[in-house]
Amino acid sequence: MAMIDLEKMLDKVKASQWALVDIDWDAPGAETISAEQWPKLREFMIDLVWIEHVGGRGFAAMAKNAPNETLRQLYTYFHAEELRHANAEMALMKRWGMLEGDEVPKPNTNIRLAIEWLERYADDLPYHVLGSVTPALEVALDGALCKFLLDTVEDPVCHQAFEKINDDESRHLGVGFTVMEMEGHSKTTIQLIKMLAPVLDPRLLVGMAVHFPLLNKMRDNVVNMGLPEKRLYDAMSRYEKIGGRTDAGRRNPVYRVIAHHNRIMADRSNRWYHRPVDAMVALTDRIPERFLPKVPSWVRDLTWRSTG
Ligand SMILES: [Fe+2]
Ligand SMILES: [Fe+2]
Repeated sequence: MAMIDLEKMLDKVKASQWALVDIDWDAPGAETISAEQWPKLREFMIDLVWIEHVGGRGFAAMAKNAPNETLRQLYTYFHAEELRHANAEMALMKRWGMLEGDEVPKPNTNIRLAIEWLERYADDLPYHVLGSVTPALEVALDGALCKFLLDTVEDPVCHQAFEKINDDESRHLGVGFTVMEMEGHSKTTIQLIKMLAPVLDPRLLVGMAVHFPLLNKMRDNVVNMGLPEKRLYDAMSRYEKIGGRTDAGRRNPVYRVIAHHNRIMADRSNRWYHRPVDAMVALTDRIPERFLPKVPSWVRDLTWRSTG
């Protein structure tokens, strides 16, 4: 993956827009989901729908702070694409009998906290921080989880939908890694060190307290689906590999912090990390409903209906 031309990428993105109506959601194949698979798959899909939203919210914030018009437009498209992914995944859930009427499935507590945090802080986060965090989340949560799904589900309609979703994702990653390199490019050491300052910002520390348990929770869900967790770590390691493919990329200090954290996360024997973080997952699971932040109002945009 070489540095990409963002202008050309924007043209490509414009040309590859799709809609839910492009897929025949009633085509045969739904019966391939086994009764045994069904409940776990439902949980997994709910997480996936919400992760798309977390990604979408991140892109909305990046569109606001983008350094130029091309990137602003790209992020605006990506925001819409993540919502489309969420809706396509809901359409699959509907097809598999996992949704009642117009009900929108509730996100798990860790995702709910992540959404709340994004709602409060994402728009104020420095662009270069969001720009380095987003590809990390995309390779791990979005990229890896979608791939897992295709390994366990035979339904051809699911494969058809994810072919489109994964195409979009590869463009998100292409732009994401290019931006990371741009941020590390032609900067002095002092400037590079300054890029790390927000890491000590209390708002970002709260963000880590939300992000770390979210990753562990996702790992648990992957294991629950009967998939080897190593696959998740392999996907996460792509961040380090691709992000570090050039000097400029490796110079980006936020990239380095995240790559380092990924390695810690992937090492289960590191009890100093995993004990407290797993304890946080257990703790957040026990937060009573009434103390949880309200699901934000834009959730109304979620629909499995093929109208748009
Ligand atoms: Fe997505
Ligand atoms: Fe994405």
